[in-house]
Amino acid sequence: MKILMVCLGNICRSPIAEGIMKKRIADMGLDWTVDSAGTSSFHNGGPPHRDSQRICKVHGIDISDQRSMLFTARAFDQYDLIIAMDDSNYQDIIRQTQSSEDRDKVKRLLDYSYPGQRRGVPDPYYEGGFDYVYDLIDQSCSRLIQTHYK
Ligand code: 4NP
Repeated sequence: MKILMVCLGNICRSPIAEGIMKKRIADMGLDWTVDSAGTSSFHNGGPPHRDSQRICKVHGIDISDQRSMLFTARAFDQYDLIIAMDDSNYQDIIRQTQSSEDRDKVKRLLDYSYPGQRRGVPDPYYEGGFDYVYDLIDQSCSRLIQTHYK
């Protein structure tokens, strides 16, 4: 299973999701890979936000080596699952799909915990803070693994 976590800047939310998933995958010994990307290139090549790095470090996860990467339609050929952090990211990704196969790969992360609600992981700067956002992402990553682990 190849998974891509996607947010807007790829410096706050999706780097946390990538870090959590990589730790879980390693701990469980799963043959899965995870990357992350942003629908904007605002921070292309830059490291995760220092507060994202801090909250991950609190949980024993080092994400300092991650670098922001722009989401492109090539992802539909490269990944099995493309996970949007919020509905705006989801719509931006869906707009770039060319087939029902592409569209089937795109999911909202919080749909795994709150099905049908179209809930989004908030930007931690404006809503909830980094601890809250970490816990929200962590909970849904567990559900994602339960859903796709066969
Ligand atoms: P992220 O947060 O999408 O969780 O990485 C953001 C980071 C930067 C910007 C927007 C969202 N920005 O506009 O620069």
